[in-house]
Amino acid sequence: MHLHSTSNITDIPSIWQDIQAKVDRMIALIGAKSPHMAGADGKYDDQRIDWWTSGFWPGLLWVMHEVTGEDRYKESAWEWDERLERQMLQPNSFDHDVGFHFLPTAVVKHRLTGDEDAKRRALFAANFLAGRFNLNGQFIRAWNGNMHGWSIIDTSMNLSLLYWASLESGDPRFAQIATAHANTVLKHFIREDGSVRHIVCFDPLTGEYDETLGGQGAAPDSGWSRGAAWALYGMANTYRYTGDAAYLRASQRVAHYFLANLPEDHVPHWDFRASETLEGEPRDSSAGAIAASGLLELAGLLAEKEGRVYREAAERMLGSLYAIYGTWDDNEHEAILKHGTGHKPAGQNVDVSLIYGDYFFVEAVAKLNGWKQRVF
Ligand code: GLY
Repeated sequence: MHLHSTSNITDIPSIWQDIQAKVDRMIALIGAKSPHMAGADGKYDDQRIDWWTSGFWPGLLWVMHEVTGEDRYKESAWEWDERLERQMLQPNSFDHDVGFHFLPTAVVKHRLTGDEDAKRRALFAANFLAGRFNLNGQFIRAWNGNMHGWSIIDTSMNLSLLYWASLESGDPRFAQIATAHANTVLKHFIREDGSVRHIVCFDPLTGEYDETLGGQGAAPDSGWSRGAAWALYGMANTYRYTGDAAYLRASQRVAHYFLANLPEDHVPHWDFRASETLEGEPRDSSAGAIAASGLLELAGLLAEKEGRVYREAAERMLGSLYAIYGTWDDNEHEAILKHGTGHKPAGQNVDVSLIYGDYFFVEAVAKLNGWKQRVF
């Protein structure tokens, strides 16, 4: 256990110092790997480049570069959008998650360095994402194969790639598709009580609603916490891009559900309705980190008086993640946070470190540290 056993994140400069020291060690340990999850041995795996998580490690490095101005982070992040493009031009399994790949690599690289190849790659990815839109159902399809009518809550976070593409190219089609999908999220994914569905299946021909599946949540009517985090953050972003208060209110509704269901240490279980008492159910630190960053986004979009409750909740969550879930004292551990849960129903990656947990933790602390730019 790290000695900073406070759950109040007051000393941001010292936490940032810990992060910087940790990331410097991670650069040496991770090398050219594409990290996704680290188990009990603390070693990150080396996932394929078209797996949905490959943008997070370079994204974390770009945020470090932007906040510190240090070139070593830029140098370690530089080639990732090239690696992604090489894979895109070969047989691959890219899907609705190209936002997760290209926003934290090509888009941020172009913004920070003006690199024109990075911009071209990101626009290529945006076209790919726009091409997954189902006109009759008004949704972006999720995975590949014969799941033509399946759409998932995670896509809420990928919409920023489409809004970026419209701003960058002047072509409104990308934003129109993003907004149409966001409206489907409001209609079919976010429930009255602020919990969310993971998978909604539509008839791919008519676009009619067909059924809801539990997916990575415990059941079709459960409350998968990471799905809620994606919705909270994604709808806040959609409000930032559109100015339509319906998305802001949806983000707030999910935030209220999320915060009302947190356990004592402010870090969520993997599903808020996994069982009656949640006794023994694993946590998902990644859901906590994503939601904390989303809550800071939400707070920033509201007047100080209205946003304070979200900011303070995010600070409590980040304080707990830092004090209880961090690996600060283990120099050989390649991740920042422990106790993430990837896919509990499939028994995959339960109680492990997850690179997206690390990314969103660093991103959220960077926001508290005054970082004003955005990746998502
Ligand atoms: N597929 C994204 C997630 O596991 O949250």
